[in-house]
Amino acid sequence: MEDQFKRTTVTAALPYANGPVHIGHLAGCYLPADIYVRYLRSKGKDVKFICGSDEHGAAISIRAKKEGITSQQVIDKYHKMMGDAFKDFGISFDIYARTSSPTHHATASEFFTNLYQKNIFTEEVTEQYFDEQANQFLADRYIVGTCPNCNNENAYGDQCENCGSTLNATDLINPHSTLSGAVPILKTTKNWFLPLDKMQGDIDNYINSHKDWKANVFGQCKSWLNQGLQPRAMTRDLDWGVKVPLKEAEGKVLYVWFDAPIGYISATKELTPDWEKYWISKDTKLVHFIGKDNIVFHCIIFPAILMAHGDYILPENVPANEFLNLEGDKISTSRNWAVWLHEYLQDFAGKQDILRYVLCANAPETKDNDFTWKDFQARNNNELVAIFGNFINRVMVLSHKYFDGKAGEIKDCTPYDLAVLAEMQAYPEKIAKSIEQYRFREALVELMNLARLGNKYLADTEPWKISKEEPQRVETILAISLQIAANLAILSEPFLPFTSKSLFEQLNLASSNWNTAGASNLIPAGHQLGAATLLFAKIEDEKMDAQLEKLKASKKENEQANHQMEAQKPLITFDDFSKNDMRVGTIIAAERVPKTKNLLKMTIDTGIDQRTVVSGIAAYYEPENIIGQQVTILVNLAPRDIKGITSEGMILMAENADGSLAFIAPTKAISNGGNVK
Ligand code: 2FM
Ligand code: ZN
Repeated sequence: MEDQFKRTTVTAALPYANGPVHIGHLAGCYLPADIYVRYLRSKGKDVKFICGSDEHGAAISIRAKKEGITSQQVIDKYHKMMGDAFKDFGISFDIYARTSSPTHHATASEFFTNLYQKNIFTEEVTEQYFDEQANQFLADRYIVGTCPNCNNENAYGDQCENCGSTLNATDLINPHSTLSGAVPILKTTKNWFLPLDKMQGDIDNYINSHKDWKANVFGQCKSWLNQGLQPRAMTRDLDWGVKVPLKEAEGKVLYVWFDAPIGYISATKELTPDWEKYWISKDTKLVHFIGKDNIVFHCIIFPAILMAHGDYILPENVPANEFLNLEGDKISTSRNWAVWLHEYLQDFAGKQDILRYVLCANAPETKDNDFTWKDFQARNNNELVAIFGNFINRVMVLSHKYFDGKAGEIKDCTPYDLAVLAEMQAYPEKIAKSIEQYRFREALVELMNLARLGNKYLADTEPWKISKEEPQRVETILAISLQIAANLAILSEPFLPFTSKSLFEQLNLASSNWNTAGASNLIPAGHQLGAATLLFAKIEDEKMDAQLEKLKASKKENEQANHQMEAQKPLITFDDFSKNDMRVGTIIAAERVPKTKNLLKMTIDTGIDQRTVVSGIAAYYEPENIIGQQVTILVNLAPRDIKGITSEGMILMAENADGSLAFIAPTKAISNGGNVK
């Protein structure tokens, strides 16, 4: 498994400092990166783990507008919040930097100047969208419209999150400004473009030399290359960002996707004076952990920038994950459909490893996956508690019970003992192999298999049944079990760092590294163990119900807050209005329309006649409860056929913010047929 590299630079996508961190962020990028880095550190490898906040781009300004504060206040607020959340969950960055730092501005600016002086950029005067109300050019997230590839109506000016295609704002159908909602005009402006079209050959070669990349990543890259790369503007007419270091570019900043990945380099500069070793030396392996929406930027655009510069190593691997959904629905900050890390910490204090475990066990490594609280509970109760925790607890309790907490000697091994020890010895290599191939779910299954091995060994040998007759045998069984426990302490560290620490404490061992794992002498005979404590506790249904309630409430609140008032319709004349013949009527019969969810068939006494009306209100009214209800009915609507029933008129309904419907009825009894005017 040794490769030609002497050191590794691991980056995790710089998250926009525009909101708190949620489980989707953790599962998609930060947790796998952290497991990988912790493993490498445990192997004694030279590794730097780089991250920080991405503090430029429309994401920040749009948030500032939404919260009614400045962009600077937004980045200060969320940079701290995100940094704290990562730390609390044991994400062990060597540095969590920020792209607003002077080092970053200088580094990004030098990078641009370097490419400019090499005549890499093409200068182009093009027509770009401009919002006359906001007095600003629109690109990237400042503009939304319909994606020309998949018809998603909410595609951004640089990317469609639905189909993953990269876009230019001028590709959008029906574009409109996210600042004012206005339909933009086209206005000419000069920008500096990276001629990706001319670089296609080099990028083709680069991607083709990485057929080992994850199928989702390699596949996306190939599909972009097949479409043919297009020049891409590296500057923007905005005021928030790194200033373009050219006199003639007054009032322009670098494109956020030009400066952000350079942020990995500036963060490393801030971390160590040795930074060049981690970016220039050919014997350094560069690995970018990201979510799938960032693939094109890390696999094509950033490598193109690095190639154009010429001094830097290129990413060796980009193990991007797919997306994590929550309870069957896409995680969304704006819809408040998320499990926020800072809230989890309040509700499950000290239980960060459960979330780390569940998010790794169910990581969206090859396809989008779903997080559910039911699965969270089941994995905690049936796996962490019942397998890992149970094994450790049994070994600790039995060791204290029979040997006053002293480890024994492994003596007179049976063939079964030897087979168990041999199996144990194979785990470090097995788990390592999976981690090195970025298969963290598989690695975690193997870790749990080691705990399963321990449980099975105890269940098969039943030391509690022979404690009196065969104390020597019991000593060996527990000594072997303790070696399994010590191995679990080492091998669980990348996945469950808090648990590993607590386990080392129980075993009264100094933590040791991966290279010692597999051995059967990690705990010497006579070693005094620490006190036994429970590593995991069962989670009861009430705790999960509370989380589900919380989600339900936040969804409802959000739906109501986001309910957009429909714009007023065009004016009509009184004559137009008087064409509607609306009367008060009474429901005299009602039943559900078979094989439909929403339809009720009603007989209405309109004063003129008794007629049938079909209406989509079954979700709000039970047929038996509405007999005698007065309603308003449009009686001169042309009859329509609904599910084979002729509906002669329409009952008027009022719609609430959450979409629910209610009858419009007179506040005192009115005789049927009374005019509504
Ligand atoms: O998608 C995002 O949140 C971006 N801010 C990721 C940037 S990664 C890197 F290039 F900095
Ligand atoms: Zn699309």
